[in-house]
Amino acid sequence: MTASGPTADLNALEQDVLASITEAGDLTALENARVAAIGKKGRISAEMQKLGAMKPEERKAFGKAVNAVKARVTKALDTRKGALEAAALAEKLATERADVSLPVRDGPETRGRIHPVSQVLDECIEIFADMGFSVAEGPDIESQDTNFTKLNMPEDHPARQDHDTFYFAPGLDGSRQLLRTHTSTVQIRTMLNNEPPLRIIAPGRVYRGDSDQTHTPMFHQIEGLVIEEKIHMGHLKWVLEEFSKAFFEVDDVEMRFRASHFPFTEPSMEVDIGAGTIGKPGDWLEVLGCGMVHPNVLKNCGLDPERYQGFAFGMGLDRITMLKYGIPDLRAFFSADLRWLRHYGFSMLNTPTLGGGLSR
Ligand code: PHE
Repeated sequence: MTASGPTADLNALEQDVLASITEAGDLTALENARVAAIGKKGRISAEMQKLGAMKPEERKAFGKAVNAVKARVTKALDTRKGALEAAALAEKLATERADVSLPVRDGPETRGRIHPVSQVLDECIEIFADMGFSVAEGPDIESQDTNFTKLNMPEDHPARQDHDTFYFAPGLDGSRQLLRTHTSTVQIRTMLNNEPPLRIIAPGRVYRGDSDQTHTPMFHQIEGLVIEEKIHMGHLKWVLEEFSKAFFEVDDVEMRFRASHFPFTEPSMEVDIGAGTIGKPGDWLEVLGCGMVHPNVLKNCGLDPERYQGFAFGMGLDRITMLKYGIPDLRAFFSADLRWLRHYGFSMLNTPTLGGGLSR
């Protein structure tokens, strides 16, 4: 082929186009160079259109050449694009700085509120984590076995009636699932699936068919469970006292342990705290049920009661929220009223920590 043939023109064209790519100083210039070369009406596209009018042998050689040119140009465009983008990013990083010490701008972040129950749950987790507890979870939909039977409440046990349980329709095997009536289900799940020593809290939603100013059909509990070889009631008392002091952010808390009855603990107690703690001296407020885990419960979960002992407690999360933050009506907790949430809710920037003070 002679130097003045179509291939020579192609060489010149390629050099020209490659130069325009190298010269493109920014992404816009590069895009212009791309359109001028391989766009619909670009110079290389125009060369390709010549193929149709060529004789077969000529078309074969020229087609190969022009395709190779297009491939090299495309590659050069990509390379240059990558370089220009990297340069643009470097420039942006060098000139745009975020001042993380500036106050948060007014907007959704400052206007949104954390629900008091979520805030109090974070406070509780912070306190118990500091005492070496980890957080366990279980499902809201449970079997009767986990919610009752394994907790030492056999089928005909009267305490089953006390819970106003929401049952599902019977399944294929005739058994009926339920919405858990307490977080004590997570005691069972924890003991069945882990080896002692155990030290957990289990926060979550529970359900009972109750509704008035202090009862809602759904509410929250925090369960606690400790199983070790030499655990006794002194430990239980200490944990609850330390928790109460930390939670109410006071140096001293008046506590009263009243004998009570739960099928899954023996002995069982209910705990009241002196209302003076929250500024109402003379009154007692019930905050939780607790006791030493019943030997039958340990056995039901495959643990040897001669070797292991432990304590459990179950606390009303909504209740301690009302007490700590002086919120009178439980129903408002779950009515999704924005005015209520703006009044009682917490800023998302207010993360409770022991070091920084839980609520200060
Ligand atoms: N599960 C009991 C309730 O819901 C509370 C409780 C938990 C009592 C653990 C003792 C031990 O009332």
